[in-house]
Amino acid sequence: MDVGILLLLLSLLKIATIPYSVSDPSDEACLTHLSKSLQDPTNKLDNWTQTNFAKPCDAASTSYLKGATCNNGRIYRLSLNNLNLKGTIPPFISNCTNLQALDLSSNSLTGPIPSDLQSLVNLAVLNLSSNQLDGEIPPQLTLCAYLNIIDLHNNRLTGPIPQQLGLLVRLSAFDVSNNRLSGPIPSSLANRTGNLPRFNATSFLGNKDLYGYPLPPLKSKGLSVLAIVGIGLGSGLASLVLSFTGVCIWLKVSERKMAIEEGKVSHLMPDY
Ligand SMILES: *[C@@H]1O[C@H](CO)[C@@H](O)[C@H](O)[C@H]1NC(C)=O
Ligand SMILES: *[C@@H]1O[C@H](CO)[C@@H](O)[C@H](O)[C@H]1NC(C)=O
Ligand SMILES: *[C@@H]1O[C@H](CO)[C@@H](O)[C@H](O)[C@H]1NC(C)=O
Ligand SMILES: *[C@@H]1O[C@H](CO)[C@@H](O)[C@H](O)[C@H]1NC(C)=O
Ligand SMILES: *[C@@H]1O[C@H](CO)[C@@H](O)[C@H](O)[C@H]1NC(C)=O
Repeated sequence: MDVGILLLLLSLLKIATIPYSVSDPSDEACLTHLSKSLQDPTNKLDNWTQTNFAKPCDAASTSYLKGATCNNGRIYRLSLNNLNLKGTIPPFISNCTNLQALDLSSNSLTGPIPSDLQSLVNLAVLNLSSNQLDGEIPPQLTLCAYLNIIDLHNNRLTGPIPQQLGLLVRLSAFDVSNNRLSGPIPSSLANRTGNLPRFNATSFLGNKDLYGYPLPPLKSKGLSVLAIVGIGLGSGLASLVLSFTGVCIWLKVSERKMAIEEGKVSHLMPDY
């Protein structure tokens, strides 16, 4: 019994003293799925091979993988911006459980932002700007309590801005401009209480159906609707007038023709 416990303790000690550079199964799952989901047509992802996914960090905690940074033997930053990448963001990105910064900006990624990002409890930076991502902004991002940067500008995101995102007290940069978002701008972001930074119109511009403070009031839209109705009515009236004058001219012409014909006829007719 005692010997058993001792052996158990010894083996635990052995596990604890294994150096950092040993593979982490969740990082391996994360990197493997990420590499499968991404297409790299210009071969920018140096060293992104299965052997390196099993052991992405060396003893000095630097990564072998292009764009990856390690800390204590775990992947903690992925900066794969501007690499001509295509494909989608796999839900398994959440297996990189120590991830602090995810920057996939300025690529050609498609598909949704996986709500599984919610399990990245250390995530502080999320930059997915300038891609072709669609679907809605997952409200679950609120569970990443350390988020201080959310940059999703220049995508094709639809739906509302989740008002829960206002609960992220560390948020210092928020940009969802140039998407296809709709609905009211949550005051939890635009008119935050206390000393929390507020996000101005720059964060929200370029979304056709988004409205409310701090965007300028929708007056221009109302006017343009009026203008369209006006143009419609105006052109309707114009075509009515045009066709009326057309009919008039036709009537006049045929009247004159008839008169001439009549004249001819009367000319041929013998005078009594
Ligand atoms: C990866 O994440 C999924 C879902 O969150 C989980 O079921 C799976 O066990 C994880 N895999 C590893 C190797 O941690
Ligand atoms: C690729 O990995 C090798 C070791 O496997 C390393 O020496 C090299 O610096 C890595 N290249 C990049 C671009 O990180
Ligand atoms: C996100 O990445 C782009 C470059 O790809 C950069 O211009 C932008 O400043 C980043 N956003 C933030 C908030 O740092
Ligand atoms: C911002 O919030 C305050 C109260 O918290 C309110 O009085 C004010 O009208 C709000 N401003 C806008 C533009 O919504
Ligand atoms: C919005 O705020 C940013 C700083 O967060 C500032 O650089 C920019 O000039 C502001 N824009 C407007 C329209 O107020």
